[in-house]
Amino acid sequence: MDRFMRIGSVSLDHRYVLAPMAGMTDTAFRRLVKARGGCGLVVTEMVSSEGLVRGIDRTLEYAEYTEAERPVSIQIFGGDPGKMAAAAQVVEAMQADIVDVNMGCPVPKIAKHNAGCSLMREPAHAARIVRAMTAAVDIPVTVKMRAGWDDGSINAPTVARMMEDVGAAAVAVHGRTARQSYSGESDWDLIRTVAGEVAIPVLGSGDCVTPGQMVERGRTQVAGVLVGRGALRNPWIFQQAAALASGRAVPEVSLVERGRFLLEYIDLLLREGLDESRGFRHRAPGMAQARPPRPARSRERWVVNKLRALGSWYTKGLHGGSQLRTAINRAESVEALRSIISLHFLEPAGDAVA
Ligand SMILES: Cc1cc2nc3c(=O)[nH]c(=O)nc-3n(C[C@H](O)[C@H](O)[C@H](O)COP(=O)(O)O)c2cc1C
Repeated sequence: MDRFMRIGSVSLDHRYVLAPMAGMTDTAFRRLVKARGGCGLVVTEMVSSEGLVRGIDRTLEYAEYTEAERPVSIQIFGGDPGKMAAAAQVVEAMQADIVDVNMGCPVPKIAKHNAGCSLMREPAHAARIVRAMTAAVDIPVTVKMRAGWDDGSINAPTVARMMEDVGAAAVAVHGRTARQSYSGESDWDLIRTVAGEVAIPVLGSGDCVTPGQMVERGRTQVAGVLVGRGALRNPWIFQQAAALASGRAVPEVSLVERGRFLLEYIDLLLREGLDESRGFRHRAPGMAQARPPRPARSRERWVVNKLRALGSWYTKGLHGGSQLRTAINRAESVEALRSIISLHFLEPAGDAVA
């Protein structure tokens, strides 16, 4: 069965999930992916528990989402059980569907604070964190982990069992160690072993870059499949996988559609914090008022940087992709970006397929 799965009380229409990606899975990107269909759940970028509890503006911004994205999971990171529980309460008060714990980030800045993947080196402490969270909120608490810290300490099956024991509603496993970072391959045999160890849903993560891989991996013991980089290259991947899984023709994406995606992304980013008419936005308590908008110049800079970040993935494998990437990286204004995108995607033979 390719459709439908449950995480605690939350039902998902599809078993394919947009993986959390810092700097990438912002509310604008999530909305655009969701609108294309096939994606059962979106996860925010990782959000600092400390920042959420202290009400830091920019942290809260990472956690904001709109109704169109639902169901939505907010991922938090931190190493202190009390603060993680309090942050989970903020997430619940924002009416998010799920709160997810980051136990996969290998970046030293995060890991050295006893957070991210370093929690896999201290499973008992990780369990204290998740126990404090499940006691503090009613929404499902999930955990995203790696295979382990390094080759000598692959412990995802043990950690998953411990998380289940303290009330986690699901676990997602990226089958690489922290030491590996993104080298080598995600170990899907290990992910399947984890799925055989626990009764809660296990979602697999790593190296699904085609709809065929998503469907094939989704048909093994795992309950669902997370897609990260594949979605940055091809935001239609969920829609395509859903079509493939149900025996329909896989929709092709034209160059024009690919160009329009980027233009729409720019427009949504520019409107962040300005246009309150797009429907209800979920904010943390105390943030009932709109944030003061970024000043126009810094907002433009921010959008230019966001497009560079997405462009580095989105242009991979495209005809003329490396020139396009260079042009996007050189652009200093939104106007320049718009004309580069129009030139590359909208002006050549309009019905070409990317
Ligand atoms: C740019 C980038 C940022 C990421 N940020 C996060 C994050 O904030 N939290 C997290 O749990 N994983 C994060 N990841 C890991 C992904 O969620 C995913 O597990 C990993 O990329 C493997 O899946 P993929 O091969 O489908 O990309 C990030 C990955 C990338 C490429």
